[in-house]
Amino acid sequence: MPTPAPARLVVLVSGSGTTLQALLDAGRDPHYPATVVAVGADRAGIEGLARAERAGIPTFVQRLGDCRTRDEWDAALGDTVASYRPDLVVLAGFMKLVSERFLARMGGRVVNTHPALSPAFPGMHAPADALAYGVKVTGATLFLVDGGVDTGPIVAQTVVPVHDDDTVETLHERIKVAERVMLVDTVGRLAREGFTLDDRKVRFGHE
Ligand code: GAR
Repeated sequence: MPTPAPARLVVLVSGSGTTLQALLDAGRDPHYPATVVAVGADRAGIEGLARAERAGIPTFVQRLGDCRTRDEWDAALGDTVASYRPDLVVLAGFMKLVSERFLARMGGRVVNTHPALSPAFPGMHAPADALAYGVKVTGATLFLVDGGVDTGPIVAQTVVPVHDDDTVETLHERIKVAERVMLVDTVGRLAREGFTLDDRKVRFGHE
């Protein structure tokens, strides 16, 4: 039987792109069932885009400030993402919310990785919030994006300890190491096995 074509990933980034890099590295293995076909960003000049360019992957930038309205920005982003015919859209440190319309257009196949154990600490400052709260463990969550802020159905989670002498930076770095492993493993499983969604429960495998 011929090997199925790898799943097509469009990855959206806003920063350094170390999470993207893990997917780019995984895709170099011919047995990995997914490949990054394009990388988009909401800003130019970031290391995430440079990583894609070095890997020879097409890139695009859709800046909110270049559009008259947020709806226009969201629709233009959706047009570009859809033009790459993704099987899965991965938000990897993408610091913008996308609309329900964008999500529907992608058939609900949009995942985001968040540096906390959802439902704790949603939002932009999860490692700082976890540290300030005094939790002893935190981690990362991969979830199906819905209309809320880090509220979507959970696909996978990974746990990391919080150390007494952690700063936000050391804690976030420890989370990111575990987060990259979780992302590569889970995107591989989503590509290989598919998934079903039943009342917030995400299960691997086709129905
Ligand atoms: C990751 O920890 C990711 O979970 C987080 O940004 C980091 C991206 O790092 N995303 C969010 O906080 C989204 N709300 P990277 O740019 O090195 O991949």
